[in-house]
Amino acid sequence: MRIVLLGAPGAGKGTQAKRLAEQFDMQHLSSGDVLRAEKASGSELGQSLSQYMDAGQLVPDDVVVSVMAKAISAPSDKAGLLLDGFPRTVGQAEALDKQLDELGSPLDLVVDIQVPDERIVARICGRRSCPECGAIYHVEFLKPKTPGVCDKCGFEGKFSLRADDREDVVRERLAAYNEYTAPLVGYYRGGDAGRVLRVDGDKSPDDVTTEMMSMLKADRA
Ligand code: AP5
Repeated sequence: MRIVLLGAPGAGKGTQAKRLAEQFDMQHLSSGDVLRAEKASGSELGQSLSQYMDAGQLVPDDVVVSVMAKAISAPSDKAGLLLDGFPRTVGQAEALDKQLDELGSPLDLVVDIQVPDERIVARICGRRSCPECGAIYHVEFLKPKTPGVCDKCGFEGKFSLRADDREDVVRERLAAYNEYTAPLVGYYRGGDAGRVLRVDGDKSPDDVTTEMMSMLKADRA
């Protein structure tokens, strides 16, 4: 199964993608994580990404498409592919369609997690991540069972904040989403590239997971 997860910043794409990937044995590829890893590597390409990512702007299509094409075509022992944050423009979606067609494995589904804009800032500004395994938490909405200890890997210490999780940057990211990424729903609805399932993301993380799991199981049945 090959799935694209759409949703505004903070809609819960990363949180849900980790759960779905585990349940359905899929490779989870987050474009944000791939780009942040490139940035952290200190490469020339990585250094050029800061000007966009730190300001909450989209990285140019040619750069993202080339980095993601490489990640998608890398060998994986997983049965499926779950793309989180890619594509984010119609140009990226067209490039992805072309690559998947060439690989003989077109998209099966597009899942659009919907959350009202007014929820986004509180979600993102309270996000914390485990520096060891990347598990995502929230200071209020999704706390680890034991404070300061990661539920997934047992890491103990200070959880990480993302450099672009400041309120002014979040508002830029949301504007970029509404301008460039929201129209992708129409792109996928109009073509034969996949089917779009809408999920109400304005519920607790566990309730969103339950809804997504049951939709995906029903779709596979
Ligand atoms: P990226 O890392 O993809 O960020 P994003 O799309 O802005 O999404 P987020 O990771 O912020 O949110 P999420 O939906 O994954 O939410 P999460 O599950 O973490 O991109 C970062 C930057 O990279 C971009 O700005 C751009 O510069 C660049 N980039 C990346 N891809 C690109 C592309 N394709 N093209 C061009 N540029 C690109 O949840 C957020 C918080 O909410 C967490 O604290 C979580 O615990 C909490 N939460 C989750 N679900 C719920 C819930 N149901 N109720 C309450 N709280 C919840």
